[in-house]
Amino acid sequence: MSLRGRFITFEGIDGAGKSTQIAATIDWVRKRGLEVVQSREPGGTPLGEKLRELLLHEPMHLETEALLMFAARREHLAKVIEPALKDGCWVVCDRFSDATFAYQSGGRGLSAEKFRALEAWVHPGLQPDLTFLFDLPPEMAAQRLARGREQADRFESEQRDFFERVRSAYLERAEASAGRIAVINSARDIQAICKDVVKQLEDRFA
Ligand code: ADP
Ligand code: TYD
Repeated sequence: MSLRGRFITFEGIDGAGKSTQIAATIDWVRKRGLEVVQSREPGGTPLGEKLRELLLHEPMHLETEALLMFAARREHLAKVIEPALKDGCWVVCDRFSDATFAYQSGGRGLSAEKFRALEAWVHPGLQPDLTFLFDLPPEMAAQRLARGREQADRFESEQRDFFERVRSAYLERAEASAGRIAVINSARDIQAICKDVVKQLEDRFA
């Protein structure tokens, strides 16, 4: 048996309900008496948070955007994710490399081949133990965001067809993931979604 902690990631288009369900997951892990580190991408380290600020607000070439996502990820793995997992802590992270495949390849149209190479460079042999993909139509996500939204960032300002492509890329990746990615129908109320999340956690880790 591995002493390493578990690595759980949350994915979906903007407004899919990730933040809401992360809280339930953290509760579940803590109730089992386990230590958990909560983090996010882009971000999760002082340098990563500076890169996040640029990524969300500064106009840039689309390949610069993709490379900065992986640069922030390299720092995040070295400073936070790898040490925590080695110490036996669980890591619950809002987005990871699946987001780059979905947004920078699906959404922006860059070749997924480039990201397979970057993934092999930045985290060889490491994938999340479980990824939740919160799936819902972009128009529903936009309605939810419109209710509580301040100023939209560079990604949130994209049009519906961008999010359709991101959604499709996520679903394709889930299909090819051999069960690592659990697709959750997010077009339901918070309690129903939470029940599915907890069931996945129980089935895989209890
Ligand atoms: P994300 O982190 O994926 O962007 P959030 O969890 O912040 O999404 O949810 C976006 C908005 O939608 C928030 O205002 C949240 O309260 C609301 N929300 C989350 N889940 C649901 C749901 N199942 N039904 C209706 N509204 C929801
Ligand atoms: P996030 O904080 O999850 O946004 P939200 O809570 O609004 O869903 O992520 C910030 C944005 O960064 C989000 O719009 C998706 C984008 N992103 C990418 O485009 N590629 C990536 O690799 C990552 C990690 C995030």
